[in-house]
Amino acid sequence: MGSMTLIEFRPLGASGPQVSTIGLGCNNFGRPGSLTEGQEGTTAVIDKAIELGVTLLDTADIYGVPAGTSETLMGVALKGRRDRVVLATKFGHDAFETGLLPGVPKGSREYIRAAIDESLRRLQTDHVDLYQQHVPDPATPIEETLGALDELVTEGKVLFVGSTQFSATQLRAADAAASATGSARFVSAQSEYSLLNRAAEHDVLPAARELGLGFLPFFPLANGLLTGKFTRTERPADTRIMRQRPQAAEDAPWDRIERYAAWCAENEATMLEATFGWLLAQPGLTSVIAGVTRPEQLAQNVAAAAWKPSAGQVAEISAIFG
Ligand SMILES: NC(=O)c1ccc[n+]([C@@H]2O[C@H](COP(=O)([O-])OP(=O)(O)OC[C@H]3O[C@@H](n4cnc5c(N)ncnc54)[C@H](OP(=O)(O)O)[C@@H]3O)[C@@H](O)[C@H]2O)c1
Repeated sequence: MGSMTLIEFRPLGASGPQVSTIGLGCNNFGRPGSLTEGQEGTTAVIDKAIELGVTLLDTADIYGVPAGTSETLMGVALKGRRDRVVLATKFGHDAFETGLLPGVPKGSREYIRAAIDESLRRLQTDHVDLYQQHVPDPATPIEETLGALDELVTEGKVLFVGSTQFSATQLRAADAAASATGSARFVSAQSEYSLLNRAAEHDVLPAARELGLGFLPFFPLANGLLTGKFTRTERPADTRIMRQRPQAAEDAPWDRIERYAAWCAENEATMLEATFGWLLAQPGLTSVIAGVTRPEQLAQNVAAAAWKPSAGQVAEISAIFG
């Protein structure tokens, strides 16, 4: 299959760019202990993305150790072919120190203008396709944040702006502020969403549909728990979960995951196919930006997206994790 699989595209909401329905989460680039900790492993994954036609690459200024390493490795890997991808990055996570302008609120105009230049330098590019506010900044009026982002759009440093970890109420407020001030508006929302965490169905996903925002799920594979490689008793050691959060395997709802595995077998789907198929069937969801640590995983994910569940199958999977 592999190279025979045709990648599909969807618009990122009503006004964003076209993106591949299988994207690439980039928080494994520069992650200690992973195959993508350094340049070689990162470039191998990005080579595969370009070969397969996976265009949406989602990183952040804080990814990798030290913070910024993901962007730096990507900048090197994308040299000479940056225009083959839709480059999404983020600024302004409050729980991580980037060393940039300590004490300055991260949604402020001053911070944003400094942060974009740092990201562009690390990524070795003159523009970011999608610049996302990583978390809301309670210290800065959203009008100031959107105004600063609007300047970046006017200057050509940023093509589109988006948000992540905003509540439905915060998404609506930001959209209303953009309308009232005539500034650039967020075209996308990003929240945790998977079969193991469906909270977004009750607030963020409906708000995204109502506002015409694209929706990008993070932790779509529950860090790898929903790929089929973990069972109640088998826990592969060379994984992010076992290296960094073994408790997630300990605490997983194994009864449900075992029912899911049985359903997959009955329906002649791999768990990877069912997991991607279920996500891509959710109304309003644009692209699954799963992270990978090796090129083969990306090829498997692209191939998995070719399996399309019927409406009845989507409902059955939902019910297992209801
Ligand atoms: N906005 C936010 O606040 C926020 C927060 C978190 C993440 N994100 C974004 O969302 C993206 C996706 O989340 P995530 O990468 O953290 O979690 P995820 O997609 O749920 O899980 C990724 C892990 O699944 C495993 N995997 C992927 N494909 C596989 C395959 N075909 N077979 C077996 N295992 C496979 C890999 O783990 P191993 O190989 O290590 O086992 C990989 O590291 C991130 O990369 C990031 O861009 C955003």
